Amino acid sequence: MKKIKFENKPIVCLTAYNKYMAELIDEYCDLILVGDSLGMAYYGYSTTRSVTLDDIIRHAKSVREGIKSSIMVVDMPYGSYKNKSLAYKNAIKVLRETRCDAVKLEGGAEIKEIIRSLVDKKINVMGHIGLLPQQIRKKKDFRVKGSTKFEKKKILNDLRSIQNTGVFSIVLEAVKNETAKEVVKFSKVPIIGIGASKNCDGQILVLEDMIGLFEKVPKFVKKYYDLRFNIKRAVKKYSKDVRDYKFPTKKNVYL
Ligand code: KIV
Repeated sequence: MKKIKFENKPIVCLTAYNKYMAELIDEYCDLILVGDSLGMAYYGYSTTRSVTLDDIIRHAKSVREGIKSSIMVVDMPYGSYKNKSLAYKNAIKVLRETRCDAVKLEGGAEIKEIIRSLVDKKINVMGHIGLLPQQIRKKKDFRVKGSTKFEKKKILNDLRSIQNTGVFSIVLEAVKNETAKEVVKFSKVPIIGIGASKNCDGQILVLEDMIGLFEKVPKFVKKYYDLRFNIKRAVKKYSKDVRDYKFPTKKNVYL
């Protein structure tokens, strides 16, 4: 597998779950992630834990059709990399069926040998430390990490553990600014922040969050569009037109 390298400029990353969204964002991104946030942002689950390997593969196959230039990364879902052999079997399945460039695994010191074993087999792996959504069972437990000495130590230890495994990059999620800055300072690989410092080498957001599909989003999301409002406005107009016999017009029927 070809090794992934980034140019020396801020790395722009977003998620996508289907071909049409991937097509729209590809030219502006360096990396597109088919994330297991799919479970929450697409299926409305309260955590990412119910996303299956088949779910992520189905969506990733669609995303592949929409990408021309970005690096495509696919999340390994919860439970799909419990040990080295399971991780290898499932990573190969994801790579073969979706033709993605890399897989992403959540976790630090506790999965370093699993990551290393994939990298040794020439699989491109992206790490993910800080807040680990796959460890969260209830929505209320999504909260910023790295505020206490203990958490800061753990995050820096996770960084040390996985940066030497050969990961090409690491996602750092929902981490206090000061801790995030230290991670960036000590990291040997590019750090992609989501709710981490602006000092990160790149940023990632969930597409549906940043285009405003949801009313409530985490503090770290900037809404670049109000999709929710605009969808509602369009549907309200359509509904009125149908009820007032204003749709379809002559233009919309086969004469
Ligand atoms: O699943 C996902 O979308 C992610 C991003 C939040 C980084 O892992």
